[in-house]
Amino acid sequence: MKNDTVLNIEVEQIKASKIDQVDFDNLDFGKVFTDYMFVCDYSEGEWKKPEIVPYQPITIDPSAKVFHYGQAVFEGMKAYKDDNDDVWLFRPDENFRRINLSSQRLAIPEFPEEFFFEGLKTLLQLEKNWIQKGFGNSLYLRPFVIATEPGVSASPSSDYKFMIICSPAKAYYSGEVRVKIAEKFSRAADGGVGFAKAAGNYAAQFYPTSLANAQGYQQIIWTDASSHEYLEEAGTMNVFFRIGDKLLTSPNNDRILDGVTRKSVIALAEDAGIDVEVRRVSVKEVIEAAENDNLKEIFGSGTAAVINPISGFAFQDKKFELPKLEDSYAGYFKKTLMDIQYNNSEDKFGWRYKI
Ligand code: COI
Repeated sequence: MKNDTVLNIEVEQIKASKIDQVDFDNLDFGKVFTDYMFVCDYSEGEWKKPEIVPYQPITIDPSAKVFHYGQAVFEGMKAYKDDNDDVWLFRPDENFRRINLSSQRLAIPEFPEEFFFEGLKTLLQLEKNWIQKGFGNSLYLRPFVIATEPGVSASPSSDYKFMIICSPAKAYYSGEVRVKIAEKFSRAADGGVGFAKAAGNYAAQFYPTSLANAQGYQQIIWTDASSHEYLEEAGTMNVFFRIGDKLLTSPNNDRILDGVTRKSVIALAEDAGIDVEVRRVSVKEVIEAAENDNLKEIFGSGTAAVINPISGFAFQDKKFELPKLEDSYAGYFKKTLMDIQYNNSEDKFGWRYKI
């Protein structure tokens, strides 16, 4: 991870900040954006000099490959402010690694490490006032890459745009989250792009999720595409199951996003002496545990969602509500994780990154 690069990214100053028009107490996730954005173009085989410009619409040719073939990847990150007004990122090296892994799978050229870190640092120094203090407040960062070459031939683009936009955020889900276990639709298949943060992975979930929404479920827990017997991830979150006192989560494979929060939860569980098993989790064992009152918790983990308890779920015609525990694992992980993210506790894993 680069901590000492000096790129001197050029900044085109805004005329006036929009910050006074923002109601920070009533934020809908991802609706409000800050004053600046980071932009870096790729053409003639290289990433050009990045710059930071006022947040504004961009102009792209209607034939650009991103519109026709979905050649696009993204990341989700958050910046946190501590009581001393210092700003922190959480494991940004993981996001950097993953965006390039996603890019590789989508035939997009890798982005240089110093551009990524210097871009984030310069942008966050400019946008510091947009980061509210306090647990749950953050600045959600959305790095993304799109294919901009005009022309509808089905081949990788020669031109790209890497950008970072920032949105002040509170909770991703407001209210209780209930999920449906997928029986028919799939999110990803073996050998596909499920592990990548490819834009199309999210588009492919919208229709089945809207059917689940109409039945009162906020999300789907996706099962493996070939048998639908094993639980994988929830699309906006990785998922954990607590059966008795054992914590279970599916191993990474080429269908599941390698979540940064997921891997942090596994490390925190091991550190706390919680019995954690990373293995395939069958629908059958979860249903049986629920029927025997042994399924204590299901929760999701993700950058946007943080740790989100699932209050109930459905599979076929069966519906289950989960108990509300005083000493839930979800509560423990959320607090322990946030203490690290907001510089409220020791960072013994070295996960914090100071801006
Ligand atoms: C994130 O957690 O950052 C994600 O990318 C999920 C997104 C769909 C909001």
